[in-house]
Amino acid sequence: MRLSKLPPLVTSWEIEELKSKLEQASRGECFVLQGGDCAESFDDCESSIIANKLKILLQMSLVLVHGTKKQVVRVGRIAGQYAKPRSADMETRDGVSLPSYRGDLVNHPGFTPEERTPNPELLLRGYERAALTLNFIRSLADGGFADLHHPENWGLDFVKHSALAEEYGRIVESIRDSLEFMEAVAGARTSTNRVDFYTSHEGLHLHYEEAQTREVPNRDGWYNLSTHLPWIGKRTAEIEGAHVEFFRGIRNPLGIKIGPDVTSDWLRELLNRVDPEQEPGRIMLIHRMGADNLGDKLPALIDAVRNTGRRVLWECDPMHGNTETTTNGIKTRRFDNILRELEQAFEIHAASDSVLGGVHFELTGEDVTECMGGARDLSELDLERAYHSRVDPRLNYEQALEMAMSIARHMAKMRS
Ligand code: PEP
Ligand code: CO
Repeated sequence: MRLSKLPPLVTSWEIEELKSKLEQASRGECFVLQGGDCAESFDDCESSIIANKLKILLQMSLVLVHGTKKQVVRVGRIAGQYAKPRSADMETRDGVSLPSYRGDLVNHPGFTPEERTPNPELLLRGYERAALTLNFIRSLADGGFADLHHPENWGLDFVKHSALAEEYGRIVESIRDSLEFMEAVAGARTSTNRVDFYTSHEGLHLHYEEAQTREVPNRDGWYNLSTHLPWIGKRTAEIEGAHVEFFRGIRNPLGIKIGPDVTSDWLRELLNRVDPEQEPGRIMLIHRMGADNLGDKLPALIDAVRNTGRRVLWECDPMHGNTETTTNGIKTRRFDNILRELEQAFEIHAASDSVLGGVHFELTGEDVTECMGGARDLSELDLERAYHSRVDPRLNYEQALEMAMSIARHMAKMRS
């Protein structure tokens, strides 16, 4: 109730603007880069961590603009990614069972009965953290920080010592040259001082989502104003379920995660349920199949959706189908499997005359060691060094940048 009186975090104008960009992405006219933490924590609501997340997404988008020659739409898993689905309701340690940690919006990670007891006040704390985060991002994205003339603003210390520094430096130089060229031709400085940046989170906690869902003046329907782009997670996408029922009633663009167990019939029925009018830009299907399953599963789903006559935005999440547990019980993902799923995704869509319009990563702007591989070839032993994620393993800053470079190279190769 208190939450529903507080001002919205985003506006319907921004939501409609994003919807039209997603429609363009579904036709291959621009490209979506979505990324951020698996679960944001309230403690990470601090300036350097937020700025670093923005920096890595800006740097990746620069690399992707260069490689794809398309506008890149940046969407953070940010300012609301505070609730997590869990496979088990309870967690047991040394014979003691307590409710699982479900994200900072619900309870706390510490293994004590007090910390694990759900507390509805946390919904307000989450809203406040989301507002603070978004406020900072908006001023960075609107001000000189995001100016394409000064990509050095986005440099993270780490990159200077990285094997990728040289390649990244070349990309920055080439973009600067193109800008100067355009400006020389046009005889004026181009206005590149602001970038668009949108928010997204899994729409898991329906009380939180509902409290910020409103009618707005001069537009039909209801808007979820807690984020631009909510998505329905794999575990809550039942056709008769509460999440599908809630999200079919809003006007925001809607992401839907689809895993290897999805059938064509089910997908068709789900799409009819959430988007009976086939509104352009409304649906983003996020496939997260795993590198070993994608080739078997995806082509039939692409055909099934096409045969309904609808055009959706297809996005690849190469993270969630490639999670594994080491012999020491640490959850990790291998850089090579993530890249393999992505490259296959581009190829399968191209072979099916479809468009892969975006990519979805769990990443951070920090130098963590949660995923294995990449330029520094992080090993199982390295995982013990700087593993901070409370839920799924994220690409660190350098791995994320390398991933963007690999995609850009792959797309350039496919074009030629
Ligand atoms: C997630 O995106 O963090 C997540 C839980 O994904 P999925 O619903 O695809 O398993
Ligand atoms: Co995750």
